[in-house]
Parts: sequence; structure tokens; C-alpha cells
Amino acid sequence: MSIDPASIPAPARDAAVPAADSNPAGADIPAGIGSAAAPREHFASRLGFILISAGCAIGLGNVWRFPYIAGEYGGAAFILLYLIFLVILGLPVMVMEFAVGRASQRSAALAFDVLQPSRRWHWFSWWGYIGCMLLMMFYTTVCGWMLAYTAKMATGTFDGLDPEGVGGVFGTMLANPSEMVGWMLAVIVIGFFVCSFGLQKGVERITKIMMICLLGVMGLLVVRSVTLPGAAEGLAFYLVPDFGRMFAGGIGGFGEAVYAAMGQAFFTLSLGISAMEVFGSRIGKQNSLTGEALRICGLDTLVAILAGLIIFPACFAFAVAPDQGPSLVFVTLPNVFNQMPLGQLWGTLFFVFMSFAALSTIIAVFENLITFTMEKWDLSRRDAIKRTAILVTVLSLPCALGFNVLAGVTVPGIGDIQSIEDFIVSNNLLPLGSLLYVVFCVSRKGWGWKNFLAEADTGTGAKFPRWARGWLAFGLPTLIIIIFIMGYVPKIMLWLGLA
Ligand code: PHE
Repeated sequence: MSIDPASIPAPARDAAVPAADSNPAGADIPAGIGSAAAPREHFASRLGFILISAGCAIGLGNVWRFPYIAGEYGGAAFILLYLIFLVILGLPVMVMEFAVGRASQRSAALAFDVLQPSRRWHWFSWWGYIGCMLLMMFYTTVCGWMLAYTAKMATGTFDGLDPEGVGGVFGTMLANPSEMVGWMLAVIVIGFFVCSFGLQKGVERITKIMMICLLGVMGLLVVRSVTLPGAAEGLAFYLVPDFGRMFAGGIGGFGEAVYAAMGQAFFTLSLGISAMEVFGSRIGKQNSLTGEALRICGLDTLVAILAGLIIFPACFAFAVAPDQGPSLVFVTLPNVFNQMPLGQLWGTLFFVFMSFAALSTIIAVFENLITFTMEKWDLSRRDAIKRTAILVTVLSLPCALGFNVLAGVTVPGIGDIQSIEDFIVSNNLLPLGSLLYVVFCVSRKGWGWKNFLAEADTGTGAKFPRWARGWLAFGLPTLIIIIFIMGYVPKIMLWLGLA
């Protein structure tokens, strides 16, 4: 094409990219799937696509989970391990999700039927829907904590409290069902409100603003934290690789770190449950998908590493141990802010940053669920929003109540309701779903390597390495399966009473 597609106004450009010309297999799309007459709404700009995909990726995984696992498993030593997984596992799977979306111009509801018309992969569409729904079932609650803490910080709840009092605030919040459900509902209302304005006017516009603010606030917080007196020790803890800490528990301890690094790579990049796939279905062919995925992975990693640069120097500057796992953000940090000059301001900014990260993921995944619902059941956007909102609300209740009314519901070796939901998604659906994406794209029983490669490489920018095929066909599946089984061994031992 001699016209630069980027210069065509969005509606005309969208009309110029009908589903059928977007993939070789699309020629025989069965009637009723992918035959919608209305042109598909695309993102208004490339920046919109990149920031929304990055917004979906950047979330609690980066700002909450990454720093505390990195702290646990040896700081930079863990970061190195994580970066390896990012390149050998995360990046290729992200390109695959985008390729499936862009070639089919459909969400996971129909994409697999469009690309593999025998409908042999039909069932896999549910994997994404169920996975995203399960993720939201606990994500809405944790995002609610971030909003709650923004409000608490801003109104001075922690003023004058001793460390025990600060810890008590978290415990009291968890024990109060109406507070927990209230914040969870606030998250759901905000998320669907933004989505109700549509893809370009709602999701794209608001996420773009939120992501730019997030990057700005993060910059401020990093500068504040690393310039605190005594910050150097925290920087060393975080950035000097400590293989001793990684091997602290012997080879088993190293195995745990590997398991955590793989899980983190899939979780933070939002892979395996078709969350990214839908954004591929909202772009044209101007840019190669490997190039786009590189940018998104880069942004995601930058935010994760910088989150640690905010947290660790501040902890060390005020002599607070940064190794408390999940409660790092809700107990340790408010104590740090309590001691810092202008702590209320910095604390509020910090939780605004956390809230934006979590909300950008919520909005992106809601948008995915809405698009899926529209396509699967042929509903209008309005009806799809209503149905999805009701479902998300009802299904989010067990997690919010799991810390109080339903506190007795636990599984040995896993934990409370939130941990059970997190376990199903993070330890099962994400790695196995990523594996299935790889099989779909590499094997002739699925979409096939040639079709995948042609789609990934269309457009200007980095091309997908051809030599990677052997790795993707054999190495990567084997690695995922080994690590997956490894993660189950300690649990099975416990369940059988052997540990
Ligand atoms: N990547 C998101 C985070 O880091 C979580 C997520 C996982 C979102 C899977 C969508 C799908 O918080």
C-alpha cells in the first residue's frame, strides 16, 4: 500500500481492515462468526494501544508483588532471573496473543474459531473469559485497599500512630465486611463507568491520562526516596545481586525462586488468559508485533524495577525491615511515611500511584470481558456492560468477605479465599494458558507457525526470530511443564501428609 495507514482518519482506517483480509485462514470464516458488518472500533492512536496494553500489564504485579518477591529472593539476583524468563517466555507469548487478536480482529470469544475454522480450539475461548473473571474476583478487592489507603493517607488516619497502631489499621479494615465491600464496589463502579464511554472515548482517553500521571508521580517518588539520608543501604540491598539469599534454602530455595520468577513473568505481563489478545484485535497492520511487544515489556519492567527503587531506599532510611512479604505496602510503608518529613503528602502520592496502576489493569480487563460478552452473545455494548458488571460484583464478594465473614474458608497449603483464587489464576491458568497459546501458534493442529509468523511480522519494526521455532515447539513447553510440576510438589506432599 502506498498510503501511510497512520495518516488515514481512524474510522476510514478501520473500515479498510475488514476481518477477512487480516488473516490467511480467515478466507473460510464460518458464517456467524466474524461476519459482523459494522467496522471494528480500533484505538485512535498507536500511543493509545501501547499505553493501554502497558496499563493492563502494569498493575499490582509490578508495584506490590514484584518488590516483595525481589526482596525475598535476593534483590538483583532475582531480577536477573526474572529478566531471563521475560525474554524466553514472556515476550514470545505476548507476540502470540497480539497476533491471534490482530489476525482474527476478534476477542478470544471468536478468535480461535476464525483462525482454526474446524472449531477444534473453540473451548479455549472460555479459558480467557474464566481466567479474566477469576482474576477480577480478587483484584477488585486489592485495588479497593489501594483506594482505601489513598483516602486514609490523605485524611491523616496514620498521624501519631505507633508501628503497632499502623498495623492495626490494616487488620481493622480487613475485619470490617462493609468497609471491604464498599471499597470493592467503588472500584467496580469506577471501572465500568470508564468503560461505558466506549473504547476510544472512555478506556483509551482515561487510561492514557492515568498512565502518564502514573509515570510522573513515580518519577517524583523515586527521586524523593533515593535522596533520603541513608538510602544507599537500601539501594545496595535491592541492586547488588545476592546469590546467597537466593540459595539460602539450598537447591530447593533456588527452585522456589525459579518458580516465583516464571509466575511473575506471566502475571506481570498479563499472559495466558487472552487479556492482551483483545488489544491486538483493536489495531491495524502498520507496526510489527514484536516491536510493539518489546515496548510494552520494557515499560512494564521499568515500572516494576522503579517501584523497588521507591520502596527499598525508604525502608532502609528509616530502619524498617523490608522483608514482610505481602504486608510490605500496607503496614511497613505507612510506618515509613509516618517518620518522613511531609510524609502525609508522599504517602498519599504513593497510594495514588498504586491506585492508578491497579485501576488501569481493572479497566483493561473489564474492557476485555465486555468485548468478549458482546461477541459471544451478540449483545450491544450497553447490555454487555450490565451483564458483566452484575457478574463481577457478585463474584467479587467471596474475596472481600474472605477476610471476615468467610474467614474460616481455607485450603491447606494455599490459604484464604483470596489466595485460592490467586492460586488458580497465577499458578495454573496463566502458565498453562500461555503454553496453549504457544501450541496454537506453532503447531499445524492449531493456527500454525507460518500464519503466526506472517501476522507477527506484518508492519515496520522488529521481526520475530525464525530460529526461535525449535525453542518454542519443544524447549518452552518442556520448561513450563517442569516448573509447573515443581510448584505442585510441595503442595502435594503437604496434602498427602508427607511434609
Ligand atoms: N499484569 C497485571 C498486574 O501486574 C495482572 C494481570 C494478569 C492482568 C493477567 C491481566 C491478566 O497486576
